[in-house]
Amino acid sequence: MRKGVKKATSTTLAALLKENRVFKPSKEFKSQAYIKDKSIYRKAVKNPQAFWEHQAESLTWFKKWNKILDWKLPFAQWFVGGKINACYNCVDRHINSVIRNKAAIMWEGEPGDNRVLTYWDLYREVNKLANAIQSLGIKKGDRVAIYLPMIPEAVMSMLACARIGAVHTVVFGGFSAEALKDRINDAQAKLLITADGGYRRGTIVQLKQAADAAVQNCPSIKNVLVVQRCKNEIKMQQGRDHWYHDVMKNAQSYCEPEKMDSEDLLFILYTSGTTGKPKGIIHTTGGYMTGVTFTSKYVFDLKPEDVFWCTADVGWVTGHSYITYGPLANAATVVMYEGSPDWPERNRFWKIIEKHGVTIFYTAPTAIRAFMKWGTQWPEGCDLSSLRLLGSVGEPINPEAWVWYYEYIGRERCPIVDTWWQTETGCILISPLPGVTILKPGSATKPLPGIEAKVLTEEGKEVKVGGGYLALTKPWPAMLRGIFGDPERYRQTYWSRWGGKYYFTGDGAKIDEDGYYWLLGRVDDIMLVAGHNISTMEVESALVDHSSVAESAVVGIKDEIKGQAIAAFVILKDGNTPGQEVAEALKQHVVNKIGAIARPSKIIFTSDLPKTRSGKIMRRLLRDVAEGRALGDVTTLADTTVVENLKRKYEEET
Ligand code: PRX
Repeated sequence: MRKGVKKATSTTLAALLKENRVFKPSKEFKSQAYIKDKSIYRKAVKNPQAFWEHQAESLTWFKKWNKILDWKLPFAQWFVGGKINACYNCVDRHINSVIRNKAAIMWEGEPGDNRVLTYWDLYREVNKLANAIQSLGIKKGDRVAIYLPMIPEAVMSMLACARIGAVHTVVFGGFSAEALKDRINDAQAKLLITADGGYRRGTIVQLKQAADAAVQNCPSIKNVLVVQRCKNEIKMQQGRDHWYHDVMKNAQSYCEPEKMDSEDLLFILYTSGTTGKPKGIIHTTGGYMTGVTFTSKYVFDLKPEDVFWCTADVGWVTGHSYITYGPLANAATVVMYEGSPDWPERNRFWKIIEKHGVTIFYTAPTAIRAFMKWGTQWPEGCDLSSLRLLGSVGEPINPEAWVWYYEYIGRERCPIVDTWWQTETGCILISPLPGVTILKPGSATKPLPGIEAKVLTEEGKEVKVGGGYLALTKPWPAMLRGIFGDPERYRQTYWSRWGGKYYFTGDGAKIDEDGYYWLLGRVDDIMLVAGHNISTMEVESALVDHSSVAESAVVGIKDEIKGQAIAAFVILKDGNTPGQEVAEALKQHVVNKIGAIARPSKIIFTSDLPKTRSGKIMRRLLRDVAEGRALGDVTTLADTTVVENLKRKYEEET
């Protein structure tokens, strides 16, 4: 570790950045932290399986496992033979103590309405909902799709599924009807839980309308359960659609939780793959719950008196692990917010922190960069003194945003945990432990106890100091168990490099002299747009689906706020004239096919694309063009004039 470690003082941002400081945990934080020294790392290295077994013991099991790990690479089973229920661990086990009356969810709707659900409330609601879902014919192993706004019913639906052993697949409410349809069909879901609408920036997102359009082409869906959120006008199809409040009215108040095998499926969550087809990542029960319960408690130093706010949507893995399963298994109080950070004003998040006394705040770098742009007057106008820990997730955080977050939100008091993980990893894997880790802005620091990672070269040689690919070299309990219905794709995507020995994360990383990991972003064809994974192929397929498009190539380009934005190079079919109007139509077409998160920010019309002799599009060169850089190595191109012309044309037009 670098000598002369100092605690930050209120020097200017520029000075902080220039000094390249490191940040030591303060005495005050350390003295109260769960983990105050590094012995936990040594213990875990000595016997990783015993370490994870110890963590699993913090959960309530109906029957103990007879084997900790069964590892038949690349297929892992954890806590084999154990019986457990995720919902029971998040709810039932808390209601026989004072926790019964503690707030589980403090929810705030965008228009300003509020709901507080105690653990007892949650218990009662989830039991009834589990019975209601069962009465709609859902049994253990059946899939249930959830397409809801950020309302407590989203969490309750997940827990109710888990209670009866149904497998949920939550689809982010910002996805289009078409994206919803694809996910439902892949999962063969029988039930869809949705709402009439949800609020976003003062308007109603017409969820039911999108759900209706999707379900038309989903023969597996037998019933649709509809939460009344906005009271907007919707169509209810008789026999298929049921109001949530109606079925709840008649539901029995207790539903026996299913004794699930540790390796029974808990959920499927779709994430972008390098092909156009999203991958249904599958997570099972015992190992996933162990991972999220452990990390929620120790990465966030989550205490019974904390108020924990993770701003992610439950439609993403962050919402699964750090709104629902991890915090609730720890009997925490979570804040949940429905809407946008700039509604009605750009201080909404800070107002929520002030109002609910949030102590731990977990958000994404893209949001932090937007806050920076909006100006310090917004957080400065609010009382943020309740905060004691900050977190970041979803993409690399640039040191400038890190320092801003530290200074203006944490007021130089709160450690920041930059947490690296993925939908596939289930829980946080690389992150500081806030009571012991010395922080370096921009680095997720080191793998957590029990996790083994390496930076490897293409050939699989370990990089001790320098750059390469991030690999995970030992199985961990919350790891994905596969891709739904496609074990071969699982093997191919994650376990085909390095002789199939290690898990390939798809991320580039650098390791420094202190063994700190610096994540560098994706090395495959997946873009990180405002922290959301979107594959270039997905957007390309959406574009060529438009009647005027002959071919397209999509690249992620640098964006000040979103990290990456989408640039699409498009070849139009003969008879179509490039122009603003077509560009707008194409952007809208992508929104209709995938959702607003995938809207290209630039459409560049061209008559040709740079390709290698074997016909592969050279995206690297397209990125050079779109970001206005000098062209990199062009020697493998079939025709170098194509990209030169494209660059010239691009520069003339912009
Ligand atoms: O590239 C990494 C980036 O997000 C990817 C995983 O995305 P997703 O499955 O949607 O899960 C996001 C929430 C966990 C990773 O492969 N990523 C996530 N967190 C970080 C990050 N990159 C750098 N630093 C992080 N803290």
